[in-house]
Amino acid sequence: MSDETDESAVELEARLEEQERFEPPESFVEQANVTDEDIHETFAENWPDCWERAADLLSWDEAYDSVLEDGDAPFYEWFTGGSLNASYNCLDRHVEDGGKNRAAIKWEGELGETRTYTYGDLLNEVESFAAALRDLGVEEDDVVTLYLPMIPELPIAMLACARIGAPHSVVFAGFSADALATRMNSADSEYLVTCDGYYRRGDALNHKRKADEGLRGVDHDVQTVVVDRLGDELTHFLGNDAHDYDDLVDEHEGASVDPVSRDAEDMLFLMYTSGTTGQPKGVKHTTGGYLAYTAWTSHAVLDVEPEDTYWCAADIGWITGHSYIVYGPLALGTTTMMYEGTPDYPERDRLWELVERNRVDIFYTAPTAIRSFMKWGEQYPDRRDLSSLRLLGTVGEPINPRAWKWYYKHIGDENCPIVDTWWQTETGGMMVTTLPAINDAKPGAAGPALPGIDARIVDAEGERVDPGNAGYLTINNPWPGMLRTLYDNDDRFVDEYWTEYSDPDAVDRQLRDPHSSESEDADDWVYFPEDGAKIDEDGYITVLGRVDDVINVSFPEDGAKIDEDGYITVLGRVDDVINVSGHRLGTMEIESAIVGVPGVAEAAVVGGDHDVKGEAVYAYVITEDETEPNEDVRERIVAGIEDGIGPIARPEEVVFTPELPKTRSGKIMRRLLEDVASGNELGNTSTLRNPEVVEEIAEQVDASA
Ligand code: WT7
Repeated sequence: MSDETDESAVELEARLEEQERFEPPESFVEQANVTDEDIHETFAENWPDCWERAADLLSWDEAYDSVLEDGDAPFYEWFTGGSLNASYNCLDRHVEDGGKNRAAIKWEGELGETRTYTYGDLLNEVESFAAALRDLGVEEDDVVTLYLPMIPELPIAMLACARIGAPHSVVFAGFSADALATRMNSADSEYLVTCDGYYRRGDALNHKRKADEGLRGVDHDVQTVVVDRLGDELTHFLGNDAHDYDDLVDEHEGASVDPVSRDAEDMLFLMYTSGTTGQPKGVKHTTGGYLAYTAWTSHAVLDVEPEDTYWCAADIGWITGHSYIVYGPLALGTTTMMYEGTPDYPERDRLWELVERNRVDIFYTAPTAIRSFMKWGEQYPDRRDLSSLRLLGTVGEPINPRAWKWYYKHIGDENCPIVDTWWQTETGGMMVTTLPAINDAKPGAAGPALPGIDARIVDAEGERVDPGNAGYLTINNPWPGMLRTLYDNDDRFVDEYWTEYSDPDAVDRQLRDPHSSESEDADDWVYFPEDGAKIDEDGYITVLGRVDDVINVSFPEDGAKIDEDGYITVLGRVDDVINVSGHRLGTMEIESAIVGVPGVAEAAVVGGDHDVKGEAVYAYVITEDETEPNEDVRERIVAGIEDGIGPIARPEEVVFTPELPKTRSGKIMRRLLEDVASGNELGNTSTLRNPEVVEEIAEQVDASA
């Protein structure tokens, strides 16, 4: 043994702080799913056929003819000619393979209840509910909206939809009634599955009331199914015309519903996400490519195997939960955990108690959660036996090296590789991350792109930046998990995400105006995630955050050189998406909720640095002349935001101001408001029409801090 065993705690702390590379532990490598050291090269040489390796993880009804069709780029098609069913892949085939009694879902309710569904149980209930949905009139390709919290009926409903070929659209339960209505209208969705309520910190929340309110904003008839989560706790929930979930399942007990064979390119689900304009975008994912990609990344990156007890502590209402609580892990036949509640209820060791009791071996969470754990202190994980863990992961936003090392030491006991996975709702699955048995981890850097993914960091001219410099993250080839389009809006799909590679000015134009249309007959298309990033000499990518953040994060570091690239102009414009606790929020959506409050004249919303949430919402508000900017208006603004979007968008601060900083052409200079919110030194105010207002606003923020 090395002298490490004799190290004092202080020495160990110091060594950890210095250490920049972390090798995969031998014990992990020995048992890992993917250990072929040359996998990046073999995928690159064999692209796109390399993706057969992902498709081979699935059972196909009909074999595909072609891995990739790129004739109508960027409307790429994957595994064309193939057909399959996602619920068959996640359920039946495991039952047929002797996994009938293996736990598929282990659920923990907030009040301490537990429910375990074996693969056999899950298949039964999925079939019963699929039969019930059919009876209600759901046909193939009808969009079913699921407005449910973290209860087993959510994945059951998803798989029931998948079984009959009806795409689901899950709306995060924390979203407001308005958000539900907007999404149901946009998708013309005539079916809703919701519940009476659920628990948060021991209190029963009335969810049905919110759903009902949302339904009043839907412009067509809807059939509603209500899950009874609260029992007798709240009674009046079933409206006259809603169906009771339990009754439906009982009526169809024992039903057998053949899985509908879906074309690989048929839609599996829609997921709405915040975009750079007010309207949320309906991201379309498909049956073959998405399922193959989530299964492959669960296998290769999360190292999931059927014997595992795997836990992704996210909400299924976001893409992370779709891909890595439901589809990826169930496609691989593992046991996936679901937890209904919050990490600090009833105690701050709740998650670790769950890990201990269930012998969880893979744990995947968000940096915002890790920063909370760190703030609460190591005494909570220290109380529990976490020795079952063998792999840790993070997702949702950049993780700072200090939080990474805390996670490594206090949760992983310096014995688990950590994968920092960069991806998006639109990418369907992970894109940039280390492979845990192959690549060393470097805290703070997500890693190289996955095998088969051509990620580059480019400057405004589309040239690769030198190692160490910041630029824009681009993906230069398609991949099976990619979104296929935005629902009902092919033009917006092309305009927002893709640009021609061959045209040297295209990158610059795309950055200046992400909504410009210039899609003539290009043969090479580049995908723009709108994230800034840097790359080191080993090809490890550090994602700096949304493009709008780059101006704060990396430009001061890079000095004057960047000004000459023309970035400043560009970045001033692409500044309207922020990342709160790993969740993407559109500043326009929040602004429109604020100006909907009587007495408000104008509002600007920006993201400001926040220790735990990563970014927090800061709202700068001008009231109408007759309206006194007081506590009452502030409360109505907060309520307006909660109603319009949900509590997740609750502002950290609402600052009343007589004016907003504007350029001579009348555009609000958000960059300066971001500096104020983050407590940064104020940037250049010389191009402002009203430079004095910035100082005034800064003083107000300081005074209230
Ligand atoms: C945005 C996507 C992917 C599921 C959760 C969020 C940021 C995500 C990382 C990471 C740095 C990250 C990016 C991205 N992001 N993961 N590991 N390092 N940034 O999905 O709501 O679609 O948000 O989250 O800015 O574009 P989403």
